[in-house]
Amino acid sequence: AFFLEKHPRHGKAHSSPGSLEKLDPLTASSLIKAYYGADVSASRLDKVLDALIAANNQVEAEIQTDPAHYFYCEEIAKGQSHLQAYRKTLLDEARKEGSMDGARVSAGKALHILQKFYSNSNWVEMGRGVPYEHLGMGGCEGGFLCKDNLLVTDMLTSGYRSWKACGKKPPGKCSHGTPDDITSRSAPTGGINKETWDPVMSPHHDLHLQAARLAIQATRDFFVAPGYGFLDKVGETAFRSFFNLATYSLTFVVDTTGSMSEEIAWVKDHCLELLHKYAGSPDAPHNYVLVPFSDPDFGPVFVTENVKEFQVAIEALTVSGGDDCPEMALSGLELALRASEPRSKIFTFTDASAKDIDKMDVVKMLVESKGSQVNPLLTGVCHEDRAIREAPRPFTNVFEELAWLSGGFYVLTTKAKLPELLGVMELALNAAPVTVIRGRLRGDPMYFSVDDALSEFTVSIRSLEGARAEAFSLTLQQPSGTAPPDLTTVIASVDRQVVKVPRVAETGMWKLTVVPSGYYEVEVGGKSLLDINIQLLEGTQDLMLPIQGRPVQGGNYTVSVRLQGEDLGARPQRLVILDSTLTPVDAIPLVQRRNAQSHVLGLARLSLHHPVTILLVEGQTGTGVSFSRLHPTPVTAAAVLLAALEGQNTTLHPGDTTTLQVQVSNSGPEDTFSFSVRDELGLLQSFEPSSVTLASGESLVLYANFTAPKNFSGFASSIATFSARGGSAQNYIKVPLIAVPEAAQTEDVIPPTHKLLGVNFPCVKEDPDCTRHNWTVRFSVTDDQGPVTIQVVENPRGLTCRLATSGGQICVYRSTCCSQVVQLLFSDRTGNADTLVVDYRNPDL
Ligand SMILES: *[C@@H]1O[C@H](CO)[C@@H](O)[C@H](O)[C@H]1NC(C)=O
Ligand SMILES: *[C@@H]1O[C@H](CO)[C@@H](O)[C@H](O)[C@H]1NC(C)=O
Ligand SMILES: *[C@@H]1O[C@H](CO)[C@@H](O)[C@H](O)[C@H]1NC(C)=O
Ligand SMILES: *[C@@H]1O[C@H](CO)[C@@H](O)[C@H](O)[C@H]1NC(C)=O
Ligand SMILES: *[C@@H]1O[C@H](CO)[C@@H](O)[C@H](O)[C@H]1NC(C)=O
Repeated sequence: AFFLEKHPRHGKAHSSPGSLEKLDPLTASSLIKAYYGADVSASRLDKVLDALIAANNQVEAEIQTDPAHYFYCEEIAKGQSHLQAYRKTLLDEARKEGSMDGARVSAGKALHILQKFYSNSNWVEMGRGVPYEHLGMGGCEGGFLCKDNLLVTDMLTSGYRSWKACGKKPPGKCSHGTPDDITSRSAPTGGINKETWDPVMSPHHDLHLQAARLAIQATRDFFVAPGYGFLDKVGETAFRSFFNLATYSLTFVVDTTGSMSEEIAWVKDHCLELLHKYAGSPDAPHNYVLVPFSDPDFGPVFVTENVKEFQVAIEALTVSGGDDCPEMALSGLELALRASEPRSKIFTFTDASAKDIDKMDVVKMLVESKGSQVNPLLTGVCHEDRAIREAPRPFTNVFEELAWLSGGFYVLTTKAKLPELLGVMELALNAAPVTVIRGRLRGDPMYFSVDDALSEFTVSIRSLEGARAEAFSLTLQQPSGTAPPDLTTVIASVDRQVVKVPRVAETGMWKLTVVPSGYYEVEVGGKSLLDINIQLLEGTQDLMLPIQGRPVQGGNYTVSVRLQGEDLGARPQRLVILDSTLTPVDAIPLVQRRNAQSHVLGLARLSLHHPVTILLVEGQTGTGVSFSRLHPTPVTAAAVLLAALEGQNTTLHPGDTTTLQVQVSNSGPEDTFSFSVRDELGLLQSFEPSSVTLASGESLVLYANFTAPKNFSGFASSIATFSARGGSAQNYIKVPLIAVPEAAQTEDVIPPTHKLLGVNFPCVKEDPDCTRHNWTVRFSVTDDQGPVTIQVVENPRGLTCRLATSGGQICVYRSTCCSQVVQLLFSDRTGNADTLVVDYRNPDL
């Protein structure tokens, strides 16, 4: 919100300060709607927020032995180092070209540490009303840790916890205080965590809101604080790309071989007119990308934000070459996918088939990871084109498969019917696209819900009769039995018709009839802010996280359905499972929950029985009208599963080697898998095996050795990606690795030492005038590894200390004779502690 206020849309005035940041509620949907002043889908931004939340939560799953990731047990300096390391990785990744996925993972992890500081340290209890600015932002300079924590009355600490690698709670130290924390039962009992509102989970629950506010402010500063925030460090372009704020690219991949002159002339005459019409509207793309291809050439990529420059580039296209029919279409598409923003709209114009079929896997992977939509607009195919008959369903060619996978339009028409393509392009220029339903018709009419959150919709019908297809006609009926007003035809060809309902007059069940009765595929899509966000989760009741890699066939998952858009009281109620032929095979009620941001969630258990599963959500809008939304990308289950074995050592010191073990299980038919392993920091030495044949139900363990270089310094986190590829199955898993420098490795186990320098005990027993005399004790205290914190349980004002020239501190404790005992506690940064008890009745010290 802060960023968008400062960066209004092209040609628009600045928003007044706070106009977006103070939106109530401030959600991705309300923000994007307010920014555009129109119905524009926020799903791109939502995806980034989900990725940050998932990475933040991943710390809980992956890091279960390092207290510093949580600031437990006074691991404050080390937590700060981790935070710095993640932040450095974030900045390095964000400055690189290409995907921001890695940067988002680092940011999510950094935020976990940053936010835990406020719930787990005593920063709030110390009365600090603003975030700790230097936490994770730099070294000690100007910071608080290295200096002020020597102050007895103003000491930064955090709770001890029964937790691996935490060490024993020293006398006088606070506990974290969750019910599983047994240290909280020994004195001082209780704890200081403010993680929740719940008094059972969080002894300092009454300070939860204060801690949460500071964590929110610190998170805001992490991204946009002047000078040291992410925005100022990486610049506007990277920031936009990190948050997916750059909307989409409109990309043309154009065949420029000899036979295409008619199509290219048509693109010049008509498409550009359309693009000019949309430029400046909320539906307009962020930029335009042009990639020509022929045979054997493809490229170069041309990118511009200016529609006029795009026009000039298209007008400069010339045709030549291409003697044999198939062309390098997939190579052109690969370039285009890489050059386009995520979730772009890509149009491929060609009159021939693809020659470079070997690129299909990489193109599919890019389509999946970028979420872009591929719309092949074909005016011909080659005779030698072979139909693809394997699972998940038959396609006439690779273009149809890509359109199906990406939720795009596939149109095969003739040169005579070029004008139809314009309608398809217009449909694709929709800033808030949703799919209402997909299904197949075999004679009977089809019913579908039209809800009040849909502002317009299209019905698209394709004959599945193949060569036997004959002309057909469709009838739409509103719930009242009447025909909808203003129905317009977008495409009318022999095997395909698309009609548009530009305005929804009646909500409820609409009826679609097609004659003659035959075999048809139907898709209803439209424009709406009400959409669904689906995640597959796995884990336990306590900690469910989005799955990594692809789900596996036969696996059991939790499906989480979140509604996007304004919260107008809509509820998801049912999950309908469709197989690859769009036949409903199951319907599961959704259990309603609210997440931490109070979004309504619907949860259901799902077993993946099929290689391809399509998910449809049914529910009610706030006004009680039924709606349905289909998740546009099918869930494809892999037959191969990779899982890291438990209890592995993922921490490395300089010069050390660690072996990671990943189990590969094949639940599909016998297949030969080749493996690859890589990691971001290049710590991988070797792995084995590189390939293996696994029978159905067989598994094996993959071993990979990682070594941190001897001269390695500084904390760093790396992610090792293990991938397996078979003939028909592929999958991957990511395993985090943490490299820790030698200095941090030498665990400081030596407590500070003290030396008594002198005492003065003028007191007598049972003196009625005990305030008249003072007793004093002088001592020195030092620690080899750094600063020492000195704590006195009662009468803190009686203690004065100064730094000694020889290192350490020299202190004097003074008390009236009314108090007989003092208990002093000395602790170093790792929490090693030493105590001194002085009792003036016991002068033989
Ligand atoms: C999934 O759940 C079913 C039924 O509860 C069970 O039979 C099956 O083994 C589970 N699959 C896995 C991979 O755990
Ligand atoms: C992990 O390895 C490091 C160095 O190789 C070692 O110091 C540490 O104790 C190991 N941790 C576990 C849990 O095995
Ligand atoms: C990993 O290192 C161990 C010990 O150094 C060695 O025995 C093993 O063969 C190595 N594994 C691989 C895959 O290189
Ligand atoms: C560490 O050593 C390697 C080669 O041994 C060298 O390439 C690298 O630059 C060194 N790194 C540092 C930080 O000194
Ligand atoms: C005892 O110490 C207090 C301060 O700690 C001081 O104000 C007071 O004067 C002292 N009394 C005597 C008798 O020295």
